[in-house]
Amino acid sequence: MTTVEVFAPAKVNLALHVTGQRDDGYHELDTLVTFAGAGDRLRLSPYNVSSITVEGPEAAGVPADLDNLAMRAAKLASAGEDLSILLEKRLPVASGIGGGSADAAAAFRGALMMGDPGLTTAETAWAMPDAVLETHARALLALGADVPMCLMSAPLRARGIGDEIDFVALPEVYAVLANPRVPVSTPDVFRALAKKENAGLSDLPKGFGDASALIAWLKGCRNDLEAPALGVAPVIGDVLAALRALEGAELVRMSGSGATCFALFSEEGAAKAAAERLYRERPSWWVGGTLLKDWSDAAMPRLK
Ligand code: C5P
Repeated sequence: MTTVEVFAPAKVNLALHVTGQRDDGYHELDTLVTFAGAGDRLRLSPYNVSSITVEGPEAAGVPADLDNLAMRAAKLASAGEDLSILLEKRLPVASGIGGGSADAAAAFRGALMMGDPGLTTAETAWAMPDAVLETHARALLALGADVPMCLMSAPLRARGIGDEIDFVALPEVYAVLANPRVPVSTPDVFRALAKKENAGLSDLPKGFGDASALIAWLKGCRNDLEAPALGVAPVIGDVLAALRALEGAELVRMSGSGATCFALFSEEGAAKAAAERLYRERPSWWVGGTLLKDWSDAAMPRLK
């Protein structure tokens, strides 16, 4: 066992259609997901007793005990062996961009590599866990419906309850993410959803030429959780309005069950200026300018 550091990129639901509800209460989704350069950071070290420390600007309210999703996921990959986790929280909690699921997925990746430092190249690491993933699929999904997609950290379409994953080639696109620092409970939002059976995503084109083509296609999609989330946390309306007011914003939508919303830009300069403006105008909000893309390489654990 050796010390590793892992990046846990935020996930962003570019579109999220709720297509039904299963007998066990979970909702069926059809969602197009990508990842952000914003994220949490974890350091996993061998230790003679399991412990977790949570630091960073968004640490408040995150349980620093063995029930923490990151610890539970790491224990799956380490076959129960003790380890210590230092979690640096940069993503707001309960915010619709992966948070706990991203941390759990990163801890799982990290603990896998701790146990087998030979998994140093992306090829090996991503080829190896197939068998491991199969073994742990159910347990990982039980930690959070977004854990399987967060394991990938690359653009994908997810169906089922978020666990049936197909990789999708998406162009990189600039975004401004904004969260009003109001935690939103995912079950509350699903409970407030009036219509559970909605149309899935329309067929994806063979490829999107550039960011503008992706944004144009996304305009025909929705986040079905936006309306119920607005009922649960009306401040989301302010976030959407503030993003829509940003010069150059071409599409504005909520991610996951909220409250984080995003604006998409095809121009880097416009996105940067917009992020700076919103950061200045809304000092109490969490605001991030970022590139949405395949972050799977950056999300690979690094040996320390
Ligand atoms: O993502 P996570 O598993 O943490 O979701 C929290 C809760 O949100 C679930 O327990 C369930 O009530 C609801 N949920 C759902 N359908 C999904 C994902 C989550 O109903 N696809």
